[in-house]
Amino acid sequence: MTGVLNTVGAPLERLEGPAKVTGTATYAFEHRPDDPVYLHPLQATIARGRVTNIDTAAAESLEGVHTVLTHTNAERLASTPDSELAVLQSDEVGFRGQLIGAVLADTPETAHHAASLIGITYERHPHDAAFRDDSDVVYTHDGSNPMMSADLVHGDVDTALAAATFTLDATYTTPAEYNNPMEPHATIACWQDGELTLHDSNQGSHVVRAVVAPLLGVEPERVHVISPHVGGGFGAKGMPHSHVILVALAAKALPGRSVKCALTRQHMFSLVGYRPPTVQRIRLGADSEGRLTATGHDSLEQTARIKEFADQSANASRNMYVSPNRHITNRLAALDVPPGTWMRGPGETGGMYALETAMDEMAQVCGVDPIEFRLRNEPESDPSSGLPFSSRNLVACLREGAEKFGWRHRDPTPGVRREGDWLIGTGVAASTFPTLSFPGSMATIRCCSDGRYRVDIGASDLGTGARTALSQIAAEALEVSVEAVDLHLGSTTQPFASLAGGSAGTASWGSAIVHVARTFREEHGSTPEPGAETTATAPPNPAAGEYSMHAYGAQFAEVRVHADTGEIRVPRLLGVFAAGRIINPRTAHSQFLGGMTMGVSMALHEHSVTDERFGHVVNQDFAGYHIASNADIGSIEATWLDEYDPHVNPMGSKGIGEVGIVGTAAAVGNAAHHATGIRVRELPLTPDKFL
Ligand code: MOS
Repeated sequence: MTGVLNTVGAPLERLEGPAKVTGTATYAFEHRPDDPVYLHPLQATIARGRVTNIDTAAAESLEGVHTVLTHTNAERLASTPDSELAVLQSDEVGFRGQLIGAVLADTPETAHHAASLIGITYERHPHDAAFRDDSDVVYTHDGSNPMMSADLVHGDVDTALAAATFTLDATYTTPAEYNNPMEPHATIACWQDGELTLHDSNQGSHVVRAVVAPLLGVEPERVHVISPHVGGGFGAKGMPHSHVILVALAAKALPGRSVKCALTRQHMFSLVGYRPPTVQRIRLGADSEGRLTATGHDSLEQTARIKEFADQSANASRNMYVSPNRHITNRLAALDVPPGTWMRGPGETGGMYALETAMDEMAQVCGVDPIEFRLRNEPESDPSSGLPFSSRNLVACLREGAEKFGWRHRDPTPGVRREGDWLIGTGVAASTFPTLSFPGSMATIRCCSDGRYRVDIGASDLGTGARTALSQIAAEALEVSVEAVDLHLGSTTQPFASLAGGSAGTASWGSAIVHVARTFREEHGSTPEPGAETTATAPPNPAAGEYSMHAYGAQFAEVRVHADTGEIRVPRLLGVFAAGRIINPRTAHSQFLGGMTMGVSMALHEHSVTDERFGHVVNQDFAGYHIASNADIGSIEATWLDEYDPHVNPMGSKGIGEVGIVGTAAAVGNAAHHATGIRVRELPLTPDKFL
């Protein structure tokens, strides 16, 4: 049936592909209202203090300037504990780059020029933007991340380490990394008759509404968020950031006018979050057989003094491998810097870089092959919760990957393979990401006059192919061909859908669609009248809380390091994943390739540099902040096991958006060590570190 009806499992091309490649798919900023007003944001140039004066006279006297919005004239928002979103509500400055005003003008050029005429004076307070382990700034997070507690202590790691045959104690660092989707954030706001309409690039229109409406003191039904196409987000568009509030405030100041704001690439280095830098100490102890007896993972991450964000990178070590004694801690250093946010694989991406590098080091200490070392430490149930795994096929991924990659012929000795001036090595690392599903998503299915089915769900397609995958899920559930489904998403006019985040979009929305389709068939039969319609909410997963649910993968890298310059290349990557049932092999393959490519980028290039004297990122564009380009990527192969997980959701699928980046950087670093004998514990793996 699957092949015939093009439903789940068929490698369909993106349904909106032709619209995208012909330029007719409208992204947020491309919406063209009549007579728009352009917003140019003003940003603080100090890291901490107060704005004492903003001289707007020259700017406001320019022809074409409507007004300059500052904390002195902006409308009051409802009070909020979220200091990032309390835009223009006080004279306080909590980080360099913070929004302190906006120029509104008839053209972007006029707005930009007017902004240059504005004089701002400050009262400077001493600031601290130096990320370090120091009791002045370090604290235990107070639970802003509801997913997990800060610490997990089982047994006694110190005693176990003292008794261990083999031990490792190593510290790994990762820099702040910045989400850089192709489409920077953009918002158009229009306030009319007490209703606010936002054309906004986001990962959840209903989420934007839920945040914006109470801040502006309006009923959620009076806020409309429209977002049919999104050019990537990677977590930075998961929650609305300060610019959305600024544009909404501006629209309220100019009723009836549409206010347009497109963030620049530079803005993205202070206004929309980042993956916080980490310092992670890992201690491992093992017995003479290479079985882990102790795992210590202590992570320190940067957070902003004005708003806590915690990745909790150490938590990857809670349930990855068996170890009777575990000591997992997450600490934060609060600084006068912009707030961090989610970035692809938040927590696991940084945490597994450290853990999977340490596992490679420890395998060597124990004299065991790194794949065999992982097999020996494979848990039978979740070592942190004691729950059974809903499905866990890491071992099969490692075995299949080893076979495909030719691991059996590998000489484990580091630094002995050379072709001309290039040292050659191979490495492996494991991937994992939780299988989540957010509650409450709804969908509507209606039978149209032509006999086709219209499906409405307020979900987001970040460019990943969600629209296509959901159409396939709907078609399967209705037992019709995908051509008989007309799926609409991306707007608050559609039923509530949870965030496109946590690799949980397809699972959460698909669960709603399957449920509504079944209900529709019960109510209207298999030959419904045109106009027959059903709306319903996805029921909670009865297996939630009974199983530990995760996707897994094994990544293999071949690396070449130039003996004289330290230049590092990655000619070959292989990822083998176990991520449940694959809804659409074509778009899933792209997700895995994208994750692995971003992992190479993290391994080799991505490195923001903060000037601690001023509190800003110096390399705030693509000239200075390097991301992997085509020329950096050799052969990448991504494949997966045939896995169906009956417990996770009605589709048997797991999230695939994030697991692909997890482990890549460790695999590359482990291969670089195999090539050179040099163990780098600090990302990115730049040439200087191999000389
Ligand atoms: Mo993802 S970092 O949860 O958008």
